[in-house]
Amino acid sequence: MKTVLYPGSFDPITNGHLDIIKRASRMFDEVTVGVLNNSQKTPMFTTDERVSLIEEAVQMLPNVKVVQFGGLLVDYVQKESITAIVKGLRAISDFEMELQMASMNKKLNDDAETIFLMTATEYSYLSSSLVKEVFRFGGEIEGLVPDNVYKYMHEKIKE
Ligand code: PNS
Repeated sequence: MKTVLYPGSFDPITNGHLDIIKRASRMFDEVTVGVLNNSQKTPMFTTDERVSLIEEAVQMLPNVKVVQFGGLLVDYVQKESITAIVKGLRAISDFEMELQMASMNKKLNDDAETIFLMTATEYSYLSSSLVKEVFRFGGEIEGLVPDNVYKYMHEKIKE
């Protein structure tokens, strides 16, 4: 069975992330979306919130599951016998950091292969950080995030 791990902060999941998940789910037997805390970012949503939002957004994809874990990515990959790590590449600006992470993961575990899917052009400008910034200032984020995330963010702001 060919399995792939799609790791990220997903704070929150965007339609760009969802597009990568859908495409990976057609290429692999199973896709695990791994929700992790990036030590360089302070999240807006708790890990549990991020997991629930992704679970709702991918419920139509039977071969996708969502997990959360801490520690090194390569340790999870080894423990779960994951075939490959998948990442989305939006632009050349993503490449430097992604190459660095893929190389470090390979150094830590020679079996940890990373494959890249090019982000769909309609989402090439999209990031969770920009979505949060636009939302905080009252901008329209419809079409940028899955519908359940859109609703959740608007309900949360009312509280
Ligand atoms: O969505 P992000 O914030 O770009 O995701 C980055 C993430 C969480 C995938 C990365 O920070 C990560 O892999 N963290 C796990 C800890 C780890 O293994 N660090 C070494 C990676 S080279």
